[in-house]
Amino acid sequence: MRLPLATLRNHVTTYNELADDANWNRFKSVPWPEIQPELLTEGQKQAVIFVTHVEDYTPGYCAEYAALFPVNSPDPEEAMHNRELFHFVSRWGLEEDRHAQALALYQVHAEIEPDWDRLSEQMITESQKEFLVGYKGLLQVCTYAFLQEKATQLYYQSLARNVSEPVLVKLLHFLTRDESRHFVFFSNIIGSYFDQFGLDCLPLVEEVATHYRMPLHNTMADYRRRAIRMAREAPGYDRFLPIRILFRFLRQLGEQHPEWQSELEAGILRMKTRLRIDSI
Ligand SMILES: [Fe+2]
Ligand SMILES: [Fe+2]
Repeated sequence: MRLPLATLRNHVTTYNELADDANWNRFKSVPWPEIQPELLTEGQKQAVIFVTHVEDYTPGYCAEYAALFPVNSPDPEEAMHNRELFHFVSRWGLEEDRHAQALALYQVHAEIEPDWDRLSEQMITESQKEFLVGYKGLLQVCTYAFLQEKATQLYYQSLARNVSEPVLVKLLHFLTRDESRHFVFFSNIIGSYFDQFGLDCLPLVEEVATHYRMPLHNTMADYRRRAIRMAREAPGYDRFLPIRILFRFLRQLGEQHPEWQSELEAGILRMKTRLRIDSI
């Protein structure tokens, strides 16, 4: 299952047209000296540490993309597809890496961890633990990313509403804007897969949605307690909301293709049952 080159190119170009205009400078756009650490709660500091680790998985993701979508494939069509995708992956990787480094800069300036070397050591220790998305095709990789991008975007928005330290609020707004752009790209790719391959896509999307877990869940010490605490810092954040947004997305596809509606609804019901989500 591979998207036509022109379709992929269209999405990647649209993304990069926007992204090239959406730059912010991790060193200069955030007024680091204005941080007022005394306005941060202990829970908010822990939330910053947690999301720094989540963002710092970028080298692993990029390596996984490079392995799954090699630009040196002997099949020229596959190679062209993967080369086009690389235009996105390299840009997206730059943006995610900037997130991790900006959050690390925040930790240093806010004296959550004032020692750069110690912080680097903590970050590399966490990011070296193996975490694989674990899917082979672009549709499933993008479904995973759809959920993760939406989860991070919603988390940053909810956290920002509860923070009174103004520099962190500003940083969270930069991150939120990038994450919502990422989300749009991945949802457009999934939409094009359905346009191209119809309901054959549904079981693949279902598989990802029903097994979805955030990075770190099986590698970070004390993950569960930290995740619960992190959610508490962002009132209004609902971990099932990204899945609900996926259901809404599938229902919109059903409106465009009434002949798919009953199968899409059946798929949504299966996911709700497996995930034990009662009310949608
Ligand atoms: Fe990010
Ligand atoms: Fe992102």
